[in-house]
Amino acid sequence: MISNINFQDKRVLLRVDYNVPIEDGTVIDNYRIKKSIPTIRHCLDNGASLTIMSHLGRPNGKDPNLSLLPVCDELENLLDINITFSSDCVSDKALLKSSQLEPGQIHFLENLRFYNEELTNDINFSQKLSFHGDVYINDAFGTAHRSHASNVGVTKFFDEKSYGYLMGKELQHLKNLIENPFRPLTVIMGGAKITGKIELIENFIEIADNIIIGGALSLPFLKSKNFDIHSPLLNDHSILSAHNLLEFAKKKNKELILPCDFVTAHSLDDDQSIDIKLLNQIDKTSQCFDIGPETTMIFSSILSTSDTILWNGPLGVSENPYFATGTQQICRIIEELTANNVITVLGGGDTASAANRFSVSSNFTHISTGGGASLELLSGKNLPAIKALNS
Ligand code: 3PG
Repeated sequence: MISNINFQDKRVLLRVDYNVPIEDGTVIDNYRIKKSIPTIRHCLDNGASLTIMSHLGRPNGKDPNLSLLPVCDELENLLDINITFSSDCVSDKALLKSSQLEPGQIHFLENLRFYNEELTNDINFSQKLSFHGDVYINDAFGTAHRSHASNVGVTKFFDEKSYGYLMGKELQHLKNLIENPFRPLTVIMGGAKITGKIELIENFIEIADNIIIGGALSLPFLKSKNFDIHSPLLNDHSILSAHNLLEFAKKKNKELILPCDFVTAHSLDDDQSIDIKLLNQIDKTSQCFDIGPETTMIFSSILSTSDTILWNGPLGVSENPYFATGTQQICRIIEELTANNVITVLGGGDTASAANRFSVSSNFTHISTGGGASLELLSGKNLPAIKALNS
């Protein structure tokens, strides 16, 4: 546990997930950065210096567009202290900077993924990274499902290691959902694709009391029930997966609750053709871009009977104001229920963005900073970074 470590005069190597959106050299969403601050403050306030490392994006070698310098600037602003930035990760110069840090100082490394050795979990690269610190802390929940040098290999080189406060909070909230939720537990899922969500849906067919599926995610389910749905997002594989999940739910005596109406249009940019259609009115001239009012009402009344809610994925094309109403209304309902002591957990990057667009993040019990990592954890899988810390 981070709270049991004596940080006085120690050099801490901290892995964070600062894979955040950047536009024109400026961070446009600092949620992940803000969430790492309790761990940073704890180390500094207890007499440590810090070397911070993260990845950004998926560069193919060194890519100046994916430099972490703007993120370092954002952290400097948030903490209101000067931070030394190294333009690489393991050069003698960078290692010297870490060795010369005084308590209270921060050193920030360039993007770990500029090195292929990070992705291949190269043991020599892990060892070089370990020279930056005496203690290793991992607060990068968003990357915990990856087996990389900075979050798995590196742990072998530290006797003193732990996860940080953010990681602890994520594990507590997400594990509670699958291991010990207040019931009724309702899971409401959306988003564009079924790929990556099959095991999650399977797991919640076993665990949840209500499973609601909206957004484009509902389309392969409706198609497999023979509704006349058309969408470029549909293919044989997604329809088969949806069919298998419906069969699995039937076997387990669970119902997957699907939309009964949609906001439709001929195409996303044809606002003249926007209409509200019941399922049996939909044909190949109309595409489904948001859940309809009847569906929103039904989903809301199920949510209102719940003591715990997990929301994963927008329920329509919520970045387009014409197709945002369903997501916005469901977001409001979940927000209101949180105020009435319902436990509400939001997972996945798109859900967090939708919540930030329509509400304030502090109005929910927990908004996960992890996309893939939260999906894997909620699907019942072990996260390699956590396993490595514990071994
Ligand atoms: C994320 O944003 O989900 C994490 O930072 C992991 O990124 P990755 O999918 O590129 O490994």
